[in-house]
Amino acid sequence: MTQHSPNKVVVVGGGTMGRGIALAAVAAGLDTTLVDPQPDVLATASCYIADRAESLASARDRTAGQLTVAGDLEASLDEATIVIEAVVELTDVKRQVFQTLGRVAEPSALLASNTSTLSIAELAGAAGGSDRVVGMHFFNPAHRMKLVEVVAASTTSETTRADAVALCRVLGKEPIVVADVAGFVTSRLGLLLGNEAMRIVAEGTATAADVDTAMRLGYNHPMGPLELADLVGLDARLNNLKSVTERMGRAEFAPPSLLCDLVGAGHLGRKSGHGFYRYDADGAILDGPRHG
Ligand code: NAI
Repeated sequence: MTQHSPNKVVVVGGGTMGRGIALAAVAAGLDTTLVDPQPDVLATASCYIADRAESLASARDRTAGQLTVAGDLEASLDEATIVIEAVVELTDVKRQVFQTLGRVAEPSALLASNTSTLSIAELAGAAGGSDRVVGMHFFNPAHRMKLVEVVAASTTSETTRADAVALCRVLGKEPIVVADVAGFVTSRLGLLLGNEAMRIVAEGTATAADVDTAMRLGYNHPMGPLELADLVGLDARLNNLKSVTERMGRAEFAPPSLLCDLVGAGHLGRKSGHGFYRYDADGAILDGPRHG
């Protein structure tokens, strides 16, 4: 890496993605601080990471890095060389985090966002026009999924882009570099498939289980689009659709009413035990498609 050597990593947001990104960093041997204002989120994430870090690190011939958890972002940024933001997909919340990063983070730190849909240039603006801001879009579960979309905005320097690509490799990931358009490559394609699947279920053409079986067995997808939506979190999916619709103004990305109804009822997918499927306490699907 040229400028941002990964000596100390800070991951902001300890939910579904933040804990997986922190686990990937710890398993790569990097000392990592995970920041979230919710103590219960930090407790769950600590157990999740502790259960997996040693075996993942030894599979890569590494010694696991040290994990620290914290509730206060500003106090955690001292000497951080890499910051990866993974807070909820709401512009105002992310802008606030990047304002803090622009003000408090080390002047040379790489500032990455795991946003699925939002503008990296806007986040760079919030950080005071920094050329150190880049998108690093990981996939769920982040410690296992190989792809990272590195999103280079017009504001992102060549050094920052190169360092983000190099960081992906340190984390054992395969990067692709894409431009800063709403939804990049993967969210644009995935959201459309998910929307059509939801409309098919809502109109009564097929059940959720049969839609997922169709895409597994007919198109060789490892997971159907509705199982995937449940894994992502239906609230997160709804935010992604709203954000891409707002940025692109294209009706096909508008959230289907079935999705809005499920989120309104508190059915957020696997994490709440109920979405397109129902789940047991261990997250196993109770009434889903027959696999294989
Ligand atoms: P989540 O809702 O599971 O976790 C978000 C966490 O951020 C919460 O624990 C919340 O307490 C924390 N948070 C909120 N404000 C904060 C702040 N100011 N400082 C520190 N922490 C704060 O959300 P999830 O699903 O992990 O998504 C996070 C980001 O990752 C979003 O931008 C989303 O679009 C993106 N993403 C999500 C994927 C998924 O499958 N869920 C896949 C790829 C990207």
